[in-house]
Amino acid sequence: MRKKITVVGAGRVGETTAHILAERALGDIVLVDIVPKMAEGKALDLMELRPISGSDVNVVGTTDYEPTAGSDLVVVTSGMPRKPGESREDLLKKNIAIVKSVVGEVKKASPEALLMVVANPLDTMTWVAREITGWPRNRVFGMAGVLDTSRLRTFIAMELGCSVKDVNAFVLGGHGDEMVPVVRYASVGAIPVEQLMSKEKIDAIVKRTRGAGGEIVKLLGFSAYFSPAAAVADMVQSVVRDEKRILPCSARLEGEYGANDIYLGVPVMLGANGMEKIFEVELSAEEKEMLAKSIELCSGSIDIARKLMAE
Ligand code: 2OP
Repeated sequence: MRKKITVVGAGRVGETTAHILAERALGDIVLVDIVPKMAEGKALDLMELRPISGSDVNVVGTTDYEPTAGSDLVVVTSGMPRKPGESREDLLKKNIAIVKSVVGEVKKASPEALLMVVANPLDTMTWVAREITGWPRNRVFGMAGVLDTSRLRTFIAMELGCSVKDVNAFVLGGHGDEMVPVVRYASVGAIPVEQLMSKEKIDAIVKRTRGAGGEIVKLLGFSAYFSPAAAVADMVQSVVRDEKRILPCSARLEGEYGANDIYLGVPVMLGANGMEKIFEVELSAEEKEMLAKSIELCSGSIDIARKLMAE
């Protein structure tokens, strides 16, 4: 039986995610948006592309949660996007209200689902989603590390003029400007990146990766969506096909990396049971310091969310 995947939010990230999921025939898709007719129209458009892509999945668009009932996996993309000059934290207040209401509906309609959060500020919104559901940590996780890593891999490949396929890397920490691209672990065709380029080049790549979301906001006037949606799709695929890929995702830390009750980007195993395992990697003193900074920022943002939710 095909999996049922709900995508909440039919904005740019949501519609592009639904498009990729339909093209890859990863499951039947329900696209939800509060704007009347929008999700319905986009779903119908996606239904009509299936003969061309040879995909038999069903795509339904709706404004309410009844058609989402019994979903195996729910992806929450709803939330206000970043505007130029606006930080992810500026979005906090607006998006807490949105995520609270959406996740409340998801919990009622699909009490057994896995939940993937994509709204910003990412780690805090994923924390909010878990607070609302009270679900075990394997069932609530967030997308950001796959996107940040894809950006890091892109910039390494661009610098070396090589295939992105051979670049292996990961980014740790919160999805913000203090994320920690752990270049020491990055390799190209199994050759450590540090042997392939100078420290200056690596530093420039790290800086660009950290600011990559903002770089696109400056160009477009709104947030990136092709690459975030592709990152979500890879995570969905790993779950619905039980691929057990090792991907950096926002996960609830319960002692790992010296942190507790926060969500942070760490390498995890993603499979049929969601976030199945967290991997703790050895870090140098400098990397530990950078991660501590990222943890501090995430904790601060989550503390604000905790207070706002108590109001
Ligand atoms: C980004 O990094 C939208 O936060 C997202 O582009």
